[in-house]
Amino acid sequence: MAPLTGSNKIKTAVFISGTGSNLKSLIRFSKLKKSPIIIKMIISNNSNSKGLQYAKIYKIKKKVFNFKNILSEKKVTNELKKDNINLICLAGFMKILSKSFIKNFKGKILNIHPSLLPKYKGLNTYEKAIKNKDKYSGCTVHFVNSRLDSGKIINQKKVRINKFDTPKTLAKKILIQEHKLYPAAIMKILSL
Ligand code: GAR
Repeated sequence: MAPLTGSNKIKTAVFISGTGSNLKSLIRFSKLKKSPIIIKMIISNNSNSKGLQYAKIYKIKKKVFNFKNILSEKKVTNELKKDNINLICLAGFMKILSKSFIKNFKGKILNIHPSLLPKYKGLNTYEKAIKNKDKYSGCTVHFVNSRLDSGKIINQKKVRINKFDTPKTLAKKILIQEHKLYPAAIMKILSL
């Protein structure tokens, strides 16, 4: 099979809300020859997202939408369709997408979540794992469906919780693993 080249790599948009460290790792991954994706667009619901800086650094188109209503989501959809985006990676994107948006991109939206799903959907996953005295937490990449953090799991990485861990130290340890897990998930679903 011929390797995917710039013109036939999967056109990808990354949605962020904050720091964008997963975005950065995905951009770096996308630049590898073996990568099946090319990142064409960065979308945020928050104009103050630190991660938006990577648009300038890596010369990638960026757009901000508030995602507050159907009209705003329609604008996002138009933007994505205009650029033939075929994969959406949610990377620290803290808005819940509507059912109709998800339906429009069925099977093409991925999310990374800082827990071993199905455990601890939603927010405060680190606090919950520590409070329950779990031995492990971790991260999960999954397809997005209409139920929160409930789509088909692609891959997961366990992270040991030790007795000195706080939500902050645990978040840091998990984030390091996220940066490897997301590219691995993309390779898993897209490599030919
Ligand atoms: C990551 O830990 C990601 O798993 C989490 O937000 C962080 C974003 O970090 N996402 C969620 O909690 C989604 N429910 P980043 O902006 O540095 O990539």
